[in-house]
Amino acid sequence: MKYVKALKITTLGENIAYGKCLGQWGLSLLVEIMDAKDRKKKIVFDTGISKKALLHNIKELKVDLSDVDSIVLSHGHLDHTAATVEVAKAAGNVTIYAHPHAFLPRIYEEKNGKRRQIGIPKKEGIDDIEKTGGKILLKERPSEVTAGVWTTGQIERVTTFESALPLSKGEKLIIIRDGNEVDDRILDDQALWMNVKGVGPVVITGCAHAGPVNTLLHVKRTGNFKQIYGLVGGTHLVDRSDEYIEQTVREFKKCGLNLISPCHCTGFKATANLWQAFPHAFIINFSGRVIEAGKQPKMRVF
Ligand SMILES: [Fe+2]
Ligand SMILES: [Fe+2]
Repeated sequence: MKYVKALKITTLGENIAYGKCLGQWGLSLLVEIMDAKDRKKKIVFDTGISKKALLHNIKELKVDLSDVDSIVLSHGHLDHTAATVEVAKAAGNVTIYAHPHAFLPRIYEEKNGKRRQIGIPKKEGIDDIEKTGGKILLKERPSEVTAGVWTTGQIERVTTFESALPLSKGEKLIIIRDGNEVDDRILDDQALWMNVKGVGPVVITGCAHAGPVNTLLHVKRTGNFKQIYGLVGGTHLVDRSDEYIEQTVREFKKCGLNLISPCHCTGFKATANLWQAFPHAFIINFSGRVIEAGKQPKMRVF
């Protein structure tokens, strides 16, 4: 099994602001790894909803984007894809990994029929990214981003209790495929995982619309792992029922998590639940947070 020797995740942007970093309803993480041959690789996972806040934080955190090797997009929602061109331009000739549905137009329809575009923002499309010299790989199947680091590709949905979004009656998610409006199950949702030597697999999620439990089970199955070491990222547990959160916690426990740092669309209720359920594994996340696999963070909670 291929592995990476070290993993460092820096939160470039997420909902909570901290120190001089700005918050935003969105997610962007910098993933730095040391591979088995001692080569450093940099991956940007998602690019947030606010270009301004993201670039502010990148400057504040003194992050150099010029040697970014790849960008992985978790899914085609506007809060994960607003600065892809900016990051691709700074990196130059970067490879971008996404699912074939990620760049399709998508709409959220309210109960009263009012519609909102929630797909990838204008000027962040395939042509715009390719103009930077970036190469886009659209794949439904998993991709090996670099040795020991994989996208999940489309995630198999096996749990009975998880759903893409907690919609109320009359609300609709629509995606336009081949000119037709169809029900959007957000099938493009994918995660990134890496097998960290001496530690185990760490899974990074965007919104986890496929379900965070489905995501961990998918990594266990495809990577042939008995346990998952870490989960960092969005879980979309915001606005879920107590029962839904409890079931998620129960299933997470079976995965044996030693590091859990939920953020973005997790919501305060689920975040507090996860902290209580995993007191020794829980790490609060915020814009500017740095997490290194296998090392104690500066602070677990405030
Ligand atoms: Fe999101
Ligand atoms: Fe999303």
